[in-house]
Parts: sequence; C-alpha cells; structure tokens
Amino acid sequence: MRLSQFFEATPVQQVKDYWNSRPCNIRHSTKPIGTREYFDEVEARKHFVEPHIPTFAEFERWDGKKVLEIGCGIGTAMINFARSGAQVTAVDLSDESLKLAKQRAEVYDLNDRINFYHGNAEELNQWLPPETYDLVYSFGVIHHTPHPERVIEQIRHYVKPGSTIKIMVYYRYSWKVLWIVLTYGKGQFWRINELVARYSEAQEGCPVTYIYSKQEAKELLQGFDVIDMQVDHIFPYYIPDYKQYKYTKVWYFRWMPQPLFRWLEKTFGWHLCVTARVPSEPLND
Ligand SMILES: C[S@@+](CC[C@H](N)C(=O)[O-])C[C@H]1O[C@@H](n2cnc3c(N)ncnc32)[C@H](O)[C@@H]1O
Repeated sequence: MRLSQFFEATPVQQVKDYWNSRPCNIRHSTKPIGTREYFDEVEARKHFVEPHIPTFAEFERWDGKKVLEIGCGIGTAMINFARSGAQVTAVDLSDESLKLAKQRAEVYDLNDRINFYHGNAEELNQWLPPETYDLVYSFGVIHHTPHPERVIEQIRHYVKPGSTIKIMVYYRYSWKVLWIVLTYGKGQFWRINELVARYSEAQEGCPVTYIYSKQEAKELLQGFDVIDMQVDHIFPYYIPDYKQYKYTKVWYFRWMPQPLFRWLEKTFGWHLCVTARVPSEPLND
C-alpha cells in the first residue's frame, strides 16, 4: 500500500480545526499568552526539550538570506531565523497559530523581517506570490498534511538551483512508534498508522500523522539531492511531571549512561531531519 493512502481522504479542514484547537507548543509557558515572557519561555522550553533544532536549522547561516517556512506554528523557528537576519516568509494552515506568530513578531519588533500568509501548503502556488528562496524550512509539518507529496511538489516552484530544503518528518523505526504501539495498542503493529496518528501529539487525536523510513523520505524528496539525514530526539521525561513544567526522567532513562542515550536518539529517534539541495537541472517542466 502506498504510504499516502492512509490519510489521503482526510479533509484538510479537519487538520486545520485540530491545529486551531491547540496550536503547537501553546502550553510551553504559563505566562500570559502573547507576552514577551511567554514567548521567551516557549522558546526556552522548546530548545531545552528539542536541542537538536538549532543545530539542524543553522539559524545564523541564513543571515541576509530569504527563508520560506512552511507550517510556522506559533513561530519559534521563524523568530530565530528573523533574529539571525533572514528575510522570512511564514505560512501556516492554522489561523490561530498564525495570530500568535504575528504577535511574536511584534513583541520582538521583527515585523519588517517577516511576511505572513495563511493557507494550505498543498496548494501553495495558488496563494503565495512566486518568488525563490535560499532555504525552505518545514519542521514537523509535512507528515501532518493529507498529501505530503503535494507540498513537496509545491516547494519546487519556490526554489532555485543551489537552494536548500530542510524538512523534519517523523521516523518510522523510532522508540516513540514502538512505545505508542506497545502502550496504547498492546502490541497491535498492524494498527501502527492509526495508533501513531492518535497519540503522536500533545493533544490526542491528530487527524494525520505519517511516519517515514529513510528510504520513504528520500522518495518523497525525489529530484532533490539529499545531502544529509539525521535521526534524533527521544523524549525522556515523565509526562505528568512534564505537564507541570518539571523535568523528571523516566526511570530507565534516568539510569541510562548519557552516551548510550545519545546513541539511542541517533538510531531510534523520533525526528528524521533531512537536508536537501536543489540541483542545477531545472525542477519544473
Ligand atoms: C506540529 S506543528 C509544527 C509547528 C512548527 N513548525 C514548530 O516546529 O513548532 C504542525 C503545523 O503544521 C501546520 N500544517 C499542517 N498541515 C498544513 C498544511 N497543509 N499547510 C500549511 N500548514 C500546515 C499546522 O497548522 C501546525 O501549525
């Protein structure tokens, strides 16, 4: 069965409703939403729990460059790109997320570095003005849309030879997938796609969550030169404590030597971080 068949009948409206009901990382701080303290804490928590993000994004590298971020959410990467001197175009399907991302740009006085667009990235060229970017960045987004391959097709309109594409999709052979199937599915591996979608996010019931092997990610990015693929990130904290903003590791990670934990993350991590380059051959017919 083709990977895209599992969720391709899901209406994109359902995806939009889900992310509007709880924008990604909205509870990363207890400070009043939309304040500077709130956004500072959101960023600190995100980069504490997912320290591989700044390494993958290489924010400083895009100083003076044009960055298109697909699925900016409430704008943690977006603000880092802008702060580093990039000119950013930030798009998202969720208007509630975009509202906060816009507020964030205002709070840090970075409005003039960011343009916002609201829409479905599967149809990018119907609403995003034609332009080419040095970097197209999309972290944890493409696997949540019913037709990920359409987003990749759309990206081809917004790049030029030498442009970089950085995407993170969830990794099929990960600790998290195993944990979900064992914990919630009692080992029913044949229900893997349904179970992963239901339990992949902080809020239960995500309508679409694809998972990718390295080969499937390469196939998704067909036509681009994949130059790097890194598996990373295992969430080691006890969830009830984490919800209370306490970082208690679950017992088996607490006792695990750090080098072994890093090896596990790099081998069975949840995030498949892929960097690709646009070759000199034209991509569009
Ligand atoms: C898990 S959040 C990630 C947000 C952000 N990239 C981050 O790392 O914090 C997924 C985001 O993708 C957006 N999204 C999902 N499908 C989309 C689509 N077809 N077009 C545009 N955005 C989409 C959602 O609205 C949501 O904000």
